[in-house]
Amino acid sequence: MTSLIDNQRPGRAGAIDDRPVDPMVPRPYRISRTRQDTRDTFTLELEPIDGPLLRYRAGQFTMLDAFGVGEVPISISGDPTRPGPLEHTIRDVGVVTHALIAAPTGAVLGVRGPFGTSWDVAAGEGKDVVFVAGGIGLAPLRPALMELLAHRDRYNRVVLLYGARTPEDILFGDELRTWAKDHGVIVEVTVDNGQHAWRGRVGLVTQLVPRAGFDPRNTLALVCGPETMMRYVAAALTDRGVPEHRVRLSMERNMKCGVGLCGHCQLRELFVCVDGPVLPYSRLAPLLSTREL
Ligand SMILES: Cc1cc2nc3c(=O)[nH]c(=O)nc-3n(C[C@H](O)[C@H](O)[C@H](O)COP(=O)(O)OP(=O)(O)OC[C@H]3O[C@@H](n4cnc5c(N)ncnc54)[C@H](O)[C@@H]3O)c2cc1C
Ligand code: FES
Repeated sequence: MTSLIDNQRPGRAGAIDDRPVDPMVPRPYRISRTRQDTRDTFTLELEPIDGPLLRYRAGQFTMLDAFGVGEVPISISGDPTRPGPLEHTIRDVGVVTHALIAAPTGAVLGVRGPFGTSWDVAAGEGKDVVFVAGGIGLAPLRPALMELLAHRDRYNRVVLLYGARTPEDILFGDELRTWAKDHGVIVEVTVDNGQHAWRGRVGLVTQLVPRAGFDPRNTLALVCGPETMMRYVAAALTDRGVPEHRVRLSMERNMKCGVGLCGHCQLRELFVCVDGPVLPYSRLAPLLSTREL
């Protein structure tokens, strides 16, 4: 695996420090800002204490270490085309994610990575590109959408189908409006439970696939969300005629090392941390259980 860590650190006299970076050693990052996105989801902006900003590709993840509590894999949710703080959007589900989102501004976290494969958005040049996100799955797709929008003229129709639990759980609401208004992205949002003043769609994101405006024979589809949702969405996309190798899913598995050593993330012959997390459906379909389809 090729690490994208830019390990050229200016020394005291401006010299370049090109010592290799050990992927098992966390680098210290300071929390420069925490933004609350929804009831249980927060975006952390992190800045390195002792080196350059991290370079990464859309779809990659880091291992974030809340020192003394634990380390978890979290996708990078920022813009890979612009240097800036490292962004991670985190849902508060357990011990480590809670420690990460509860840490105060100025606190120091450990960062290893970036690790894993990318969405390879450029494979969609000259094609329609369809993003399908469920819940927090919009966060790992955000860098891919930002990369695409930096070269919007190279792509045909861009469609974002997004399903959230309730209207209050919709992530990046302002950006969804900007992507639609300023960049011509066809944004369709649906919620599982639409009480209160919600006037939009209610239902599963899968149900949006058959009617969405894209040409299946000339489409790249990027899908991220709970595994069951991804299985249904991949089936709906291939039923419409999108070739399996042009449907990409981002897989989640328990991870410890992040670099293909420990085996915690194994999915049959794949190590999700190095062979994934982004994998083509042509490779995943035989490995995923088809019980629920
Ligand atoms: C490659 C990769 C990228 C990821 N990117 C993100 C990301 O961008 N943002 C993000 O919030 N999370 C992301 N995750 C998931 C994240 O790693 C887990 O939520 C985290 O490890 C949970 O650790 P914890 O100690 O907080 O919870 P634990 O104490 O381990 O679990 C607490 C409870 O939450 C449940 N739980 C654990 N994981 C999840 C999950 N993923 N979804 C729902 N419930 C869960 C457990 O079953 C348990 O009931 C990613 C995972 C992988 C493998
Ligand atoms: S997390 Fe250790 S091999 Fe993948």
